[in-house]
Amino acid sequence: MADVLQIRHPATGVEHELAITDATIRATELRQFSVDGAPIATYDPGYVNTASCRSSITYIDGEAGVLEYRGYPVQQLAEHSTFLEVAWLLLNGELPGADELAAWEETITSHRRLPDKLKTLLAGFPYDAHPMSILMASTAAFFSFYPDAQNFTDPEARALNTARLIGKMPTLAAFAYRKGKAKPYINPDDSYGYCDNFLQMLFKQAERRYQADPRLVRAVEVLFILHADHEQNCSTSAVRSVASSGNDLYTCVSAGVGALHGPLHGGANEAVLRMLREIGTVDRVPEFIEGVKAGRARMMGFGHRVYKNYDPRARVIKKAVDDVFEITGVNPLLQVAQELEKYGLTDDYFVSRRLYPNVDFYSGLIYEALGFPPEMFTVLFAIPRTAGWAAQYQEFITDPDNKIARPKQIYTGSARRDYVPMDAR
Ligand code: CMC
Repeated sequence: MADVLQIRHPATGVEHELAITDATIRATELRQFSVDGAPIATYDPGYVNTASCRSSITYIDGEAGVLEYRGYPVQQLAEHSTFLEVAWLLLNGELPGADELAAWEETITSHRRLPDKLKTLLAGFPYDAHPMSILMASTAAFFSFYPDAQNFTDPEARALNTARLIGKMPTLAAFAYRKGKAKPYINPDDSYGYCDNFLQMLFKQAERRYQADPRLVRAVEVLFILHADHEQNCSTSAVRSVASSGNDLYTCVSAGVGALHGPLHGGANEAVLRMLREIGTVDRVPEFIEGVKAGRARMMGFGHRVYKNYDPRARVIKKAVDDVFEITGVNPLLQVAQELEKYGLTDDYFVSRRLYPNVDFYSGLIYEALGFPPEMFTVLFAIPRTAGWAAQYQEFITDPDNKIARPKQIYTGSARRDYVPMDAR
């Protein structure tokens, strides 16, 4: 394939050559493209065809349904790895050795507790506050507690604040959950691992020692691995964009949490469950599908900007659904989901648009079976994605090519005109 792209300017007919960079997608650099001295911009709403950075963290082939972290297929990681091992991999580029992993786990464990004053902040939220709102505000507030995060060019300060955030995120999520239930907070317990500690902080009642079924703990671990990173999605782009003006990790992750909350992104898992509940029974699926085709509704958990094939994460989650339901009993909404999927994979509306189930289609069913209310689902996405956001933040900070994010616009407003006094309008 040619490594230059020949283009002809439509007005002047002048030929130009654009170098095509060596990348996983073939990309051309348009940073300073001008014709006869006049700059030319590209118009690409939603950045459908614009690469905003070079990255060596996550590789996706949307046509083939491939997802790899640092070259490792996500299916293999979901089968053999732990979330903290994957977080290390994302941050450091290689799988850890046994000593490195043990030290990393200990570091994260040492950072699980929240500052006492943060509990005062939590107390100020209304009793029915959405946990994503609590998460967003609290991650932003961390910067007040740990202002050394502003020393982000110092690798040691960066590593410390990354570990703090990965350690504290489950505690924050559990506290947000228990606040909504008006239950007392359960502090982290160092004798548990990352995922079972999270479950005990959420669900411990009066028992001496809470013990979740290990198969359910593993299901949470797998879900965390699958959600850990997904290259330049909306929330990661928000993290990088906020980082580009010189911000600390907490401020950037708070922006990421906000972006993730939207129903077209991480909020889709919550929206899927609400959609399944609204449909209610299998016999109402055809009517719902007609509504989608007529543009009255979206099939939440279906479609993806990058995957034009079955989302590889959805395949793993679909299998985990069966494992979890063996323990918890089958959620009756599973039948509705399966019927929707049947339509999705055969009906011409979905087939012609290449809309397949994505990561959010089945995850909500597992979360519900584990005892989470829908408003917690996106929080469960945010906890592991923090590892990806931190890795992408680090890559951005250390990228000599980084620049403040500042897209152009195509102005469509009024031409210059003079101010009109009030009495003349
Ligand atoms: N239900 C019905 N129609 C859809 C759907 C859907 N879920 N998704 C896309 N379409 C249609 C859309 O109406 C359009 O049709 P037409 O060409 O006739 O106008 C066509 O498919 C292309 O859609 P698009 O909106 O241009 O695609 P996009 O790449 O901009 O959007 C998406 C991607 C994920 C926002 C979209 O597929 C969607 O809204 N899906 C539902 C929400 C969802 O599940 N989001 C989670 C994504 S995966 C996890 C994550 O990223 O957090």
